[in-house]
Amino acid sequence: METLLMCTPEGFAVDYDINPWMTAQVGRVSSVLATAQWRALFEQLSALAEVRLMPGNRAWPDLVFTANAGLPLPREKKFILSNFRHPQRQGETAIDRAWFEADGWNCIELPSAALFEGAGDALFDARGRLWLGGGPRSNEAAPAYLAKHIDAPIHRLGLVEAAFYHLDTCFCPLPGGAALYVPGAFDATSRALLEREFGEQLIALTPKEANLFCANAVCVGRTILMNRATPRLRARLAALGFSLRETALSEFMKAGGSAKCLTLSLDGWVYEALPPR
Ligand code: ARG
Repeated sequence: METLLMCTPEGFAVDYDINPWMTAQVGRVSSVLATAQWRALFEQLSALAEVRLMPGNRAWPDLVFTANAGLPLPREKKFILSNFRHPQRQGETAIDRAWFEADGWNCIELPSAALFEGAGDALFDARGRLWLGGGPRSNEAAPAYLAKHIDAPIHRLGLVEAAFYHLDTCFCPLPGGAALYVPGAFDATSRALLEREFGEQLIALTPKEANLFCANAVCVGRTILMNRATPRLRARLAALGFSLRETALSEFMKAGGSAKCLTLSLDGWVYEALPPR
């Protein structure tokens, strides 16, 4: 059974503005609704995977987005810690490190020149390739340092839209080889690379789907969970053999996050494609 890490939502709020989703939402999260939405996601995932929990922390409201803690390399039990761009999130790293060290992971710190926001900007695909988003958060220096620790082909994708600041807001590789993406979120070279590498299996999301956070989906086995879909996307995913569950996450979208950001896979399907060691 797959294992996911989530962080309980008691510390979650929008206290500051570091992405366009947050701008009009400072102080406007309903903690009652956020807790109910988080719990609904947690319960659905718990039926599919083992969900481990880290406690929330009111001093670090975005800690709830465990995808940004870092990048787990479960085969080596190594955990590459994030190096957050914004001071508003930098204090999360000590908390993440403590959790992973207590769980027996060898935590790796990148040099301060390499900005890196973990699994939010680093996604493996079904062929074992690692896609790294960069620009708004992770930077140009990150891929070379990551390559020292990761034995997989690495491709960098340039993100150009402020609203799609992490790769997992605009790109979602799926088991079986398909991927969802938001075409306008990428620079022309990166878009061409995705089109070439995924071909007909690349599913372009409409602006409406992009803004519903359809790319920020978490996939366990053949089940995909996302905030909400459209009839067209429901049909497309069903045709690919996925079972789709829509679970409202409006309070977390006020912070610029959704289903995928709220989870971190500790041993996901992606590793099945990696060459054996
Ligand atoms: N407010 C958080 C930030 O701007 C949201 C992070 C969402 N995480 C993600 N993996 N997309 O950093």
